[in-house]
Amino acid sequence: MNYLVVGSGLFGAVFAHEAAKKGHSVKVIEKRSHIGGNIYTKEVAGIQVHQYGAHIFHTNMKEIWDYVNQFADFNNYINSPIANYNGEIYNLPFNMNTFNKLWGVITPAEAQAKIAEQKQLFNLDGEPKNLEEQAISLIGPDVYQKLVKGYTEKQWGKSAKDLPAFIIRRLPVRFTYDNNYFNDPYQGIPVGGYTKIIEKLLDHDLIEVELNSDFFSHREEYLQSDAKIIYTGMIDQFFNYRLGELEYRSLRFETEILNQDNYQGNAVVNYTDAKTPFTRIIEHKHFEFGKGDPNKTVITREYPEVWQRGDDPYYPVNNQRNQELYAEYVQLAQADYPQVFFGGRLGQYRYYNMDQTIAAALQVVKDEFGE
Ligand code: FDA
Repeated sequence: MNYLVVGSGLFGAVFAHEAAKKGHSVKVIEKRSHIGGNIYTKEVAGIQVHQYGAHIFHTNMKEIWDYVNQFADFNNYINSPIANYNGEIYNLPFNMNTFNKLWGVITPAEAQAKIAEQKQLFNLDGEPKNLEEQAISLIGPDVYQKLVKGYTEKQWGKSAKDLPAFIIRRLPVRFTYDNNYFNDPYQGIPVGGYTKIIEKLLDHDLIEVELNSDFFSHREEYLQSDAKIIYTGMIDQFFNYRLGELEYRSLRFETEILNQDNYQGNAVVNYTDAKTPFTRIIEHKHFEFGKGDPNKTVITREYPEVWQRGDDPYYPVNNQRNQELYAEYVQLAQADYPQVFFGGRLGQYRYYNMDQTIAAALQVVKDEFGE
């Protein structure tokens, strides 16, 4: 084999596909029992279930949109999440519908005046010292209390007063009646699920895929082989956490099949109060406009969790301490393992959306093989 790809997520699959197209043999090893990494979807009662959290494809990069459309047809789903705050329903992202429900304002001018008045309620001297001050200075206390505080505190497992201000650099605020969460021109859900995209990417005579296969069971053997390695697992684990652990946030998903057609009337409902232990409920059939068994629906509650070794790492915690530690691991990698490329969300310890993951993988392909 010319290349060993560790991990069959989007990054690994795009790299494997492009390398095979160029005539290189590739072995993909995957420690889970299925391909796809976190974009894996599984059909239940005719419904594509997003096993590792809601995945909505959106991008402003035309070339990435064209690239991914080679492997799937996308529907015209538009993400318009709803917030449930103790039974009160609000539209997200913050827009005229949200402001109308909160304050009864009707015109953009009225909403702007109300937000200016709200911000004045909180007299901030100097730079915001924490996330709470930052959020209130951007949007005022009402939106903060009902739509930001509880959700953010559950997400990070910390009081907003103990979270750094930089997490919220800006809060998207719109003075139009527009519930489309993303600003990108291209958006949708692949018809028939994301797993099919990965299947197509990996469907090549020069690609061999081995499931239930952990890199660390054969680490030395692989490192001594002639193959170049594309490693998309955790960079700190690669080094057996020699310099210390990078921090991650984990998630627990609780999925239920219900004998009813329609549970919540929307794909994504965020629970923004502090009491409800989960952050959101996803009702999968709404990503595909109600496809599947008309008498069944599948919902998933998402609970943020502290990450511990052995858990799935979902979100890197990119604070200063972790960024510095990550940089030290990169130095180690460059010095000791020139045959290994660390890629993807875990290998590069950064939050990549799917379009950014594809773009990053295609960049590696370009660096490796030229145009
Ligand atoms: P990914 O984690 O998917 O793949 C890595 C693979 O390597 C995994 O399959 C893992 O099992 C395997 N692996 C790790 N260690 C190994 C080892 N030692 N041996 C063998 N295999 C190993 N993006 C977006 O655009 N829109 C969205 O709506 C969302 N939503 C979203 C929700 C949630 C909850 C998360 C966590 C993420 C998103 N994303 C997203 C981001 C999206 O999931 C992300 O861009 C891609 O899945 C990243 O693909 P990677 O291949 O980098 O990692």
